[in-house]
Amino acid sequence: MNSKEIREKFLRYLEKQGCKIVPSGSLVPENDPTTLFTSAGMQQMVPYLLGEKHPLGTRIANSQKCFRAKDIKEVGDLRHNTFFEMLGDWSFNDFFKQEQLIWIFEFLTKEVGLDPKRLFVTVFRGSPENNIPKDTETADIWKSLFKSAGVEAKDADFSEKNGMGKDEKIFYYDDNKNWWSRSGSPENMPIGELGGPDSEIFWDFGADLKMHENSSWKGQPCHVNCDCGRFFEIGNNVFMQYIKEKDGIKTFSKKNVDFGGGLERIAAASIDSPDVFKTDLFLPIINQVEKMSGKRYNSSASEEDKAFRVIADHARAAVLLVADGVFPSNKERGYFARRVIRRALVKAQKLGINDNFMAPMAEIVFEIFEGVYVFPKEKAAEELEKEETKFRKTLVEGLKKFNELILREKEKSGIIKEDGFVKILKGVESFYLYQSFGFPKELIQELCEENGIEFDEKGFNEEFLKHQELSRTASAGMFKGGLADAGEQTTRLHTAAHLMLAALRQVLGSHVMQKGSNITAERLRFDVAHSQKITAEELQKVEDLVNEQISKKIAIEESEMSLEEAKKQNATGAFENKYGDRVKVYTIGNFSKEICGGPHIKNTGELGKFKIIKEESSSSGVRRIKAVLS
Ligand code: ALA
Repeated sequence: MNSKEIREKFLRYLEKQGCKIVPSGSLVPENDPTTLFTSAGMQQMVPYLLGEKHPLGTRIANSQKCFRAKDIKEVGDLRHNTFFEMLGDWSFNDFFKQEQLIWIFEFLTKEVGLDPKRLFVTVFRGSPENNIPKDTETADIWKSLFKSAGVEAKDADFSEKNGMGKDEKIFYYDDNKNWWSRSGSPENMPIGELGGPDSEIFWDFGADLKMHENSSWKGQPCHVNCDCGRFFEIGNNVFMQYIKEKDGIKTFSKKNVDFGGGLERIAAASIDSPDVFKTDLFLPIINQVEKMSGKRYNSSASEEDKAFRVIADHARAAVLLVADGVFPSNKERGYFARRVIRRALVKAQKLGINDNFMAPMAEIVFEIFEGVYVFPKEKAAEELEKEETKFRKTLVEGLKKFNELILREKEKSGIIKEDGFVKILKGVESFYLYQSFGFPKELIQELCEENGIEFDEKGFNEEFLKHQELSRTASAGMFKGGLADAGEQTTRLHTAAHLMLAALRQVLGSHVMQKGSNITAERLRFDVAHSQKITAEELQKVEDLVNEQISKKIAIEESEMSLEEAKKQNATGAFENKYGDRVKVYTIGNFSKEICGGPHIKNTGELGKFKIIKEESSSSGVRRIKAVLS
């Protein structure tokens, strides 16, 4: 079955179950500056999972475009993608486990026609320390579903040592594997985050698959979550009925379902190909790479075939990113578009492809998605062409320089390790490749790995910071955080803005994020992500909360920590520059904790009286608030 049929069948099937179909959101999430990209279908559903009313009701389904930046490095094997489509359905406190599992089993086995004998599932083992029970209810539902299809299905507590026993189809795993939230396991969830036990569905390509031999699992018994290539996950049912509170995980007032299934993988299972690049979602791209390179793609583990897959995945992702307005640059989202394009070009160079191909590739990608998504085709092609032309100017010379550098390193390195010389590409040198030839850091890192040479990451980061410092000095006079100046009155309003954001999050919910700010000596202007008008009553509550903090005369603490630590401490703040590894965090009692560059006053007692003077819409899903201190 081809991908268009599967996508269509999924949506029509869920429609029959009463789900309303919504279009895919953009790869750039709206109203959520904490994440750079939409990486799961549920991202745009968070407010509704939390209890806000969805205009179309309590049953929703869609096919969502997703981009997982953290998987860039994984791409190259047979099944990882950066861009993928997630078939999703959601219950906002409506249907639950029983309906969801019956539907998805029927969809996979009857509509797509997957053999139930080759499906396996996992369920949550429970977490006594968090008071979350073992999900035997889900296991029982699966048992009866398999039985109804004439398949014996035993459940078992998964153990790495024993692998999988005869007729075992349902495996209990712990919260590293079978608990889903946007931030992972219960321990990692910030306060206010929803999560729950999940039940994953796997497809078995058969025990004969030889890939196990090359993996770290060699000699060990296989199991559904092992990485050998025999199994892959095709869908995940999350039962979102828990919330993280101050004192741990609590049962949430609503029983939600969040299902996500990878279209690429379901399509691969339906043609029984362990290689997703053989599905119709990629084949025309692979064929084009074959044509351009004069080489054949064989689905193997060779470097050449790996290059095919990286080009196919990255070119497709780049086209879709650019089509959603993510243009290549050195900052935040744009940096990821740049990274995938430049990595694809380096791999293409290895296959002997010297002509520009991104723009023609865009046409092929648009053709694959014809009738599914609407694209600004010309603009996208133009941006891709621009980026490719720019990088091609320095690509060959940059690679030459890289080779010279590593050759020199190899010759001159004298420190002998057991396995030979210690060869290091120093920070100054790798930064030179970055600065003068436009090689993204991760690309240099990968080239080093391929050449058996160590990449001095610390050195690179130091050079990067030094350079940033210089350019910052060059633009002195401009203040961070939307501040017009660093005068006393502006600084007071800046601190008031922190209090206000914390108060808004208490009153309206933790989805409220800063979208922008502009602070002068006269007033603060602050944009927040929130889809409804903030009522007079809510504004009053916010004002009261802020004034209460002012009257408490709380000292403002400033500290420096790693971004990771700041996130762990639940500090709010927009996604920081990816190289800004150390961040400043301002804490105001138990009330507010924010990543911020400052400046701030010393004590809330210096603020006077806080007053909101205006609340209005700024753009879709964004409210603008103006406030003063007197
Ligand atoms: N949100 C779930 C996932 O991404 C379905 O796996």
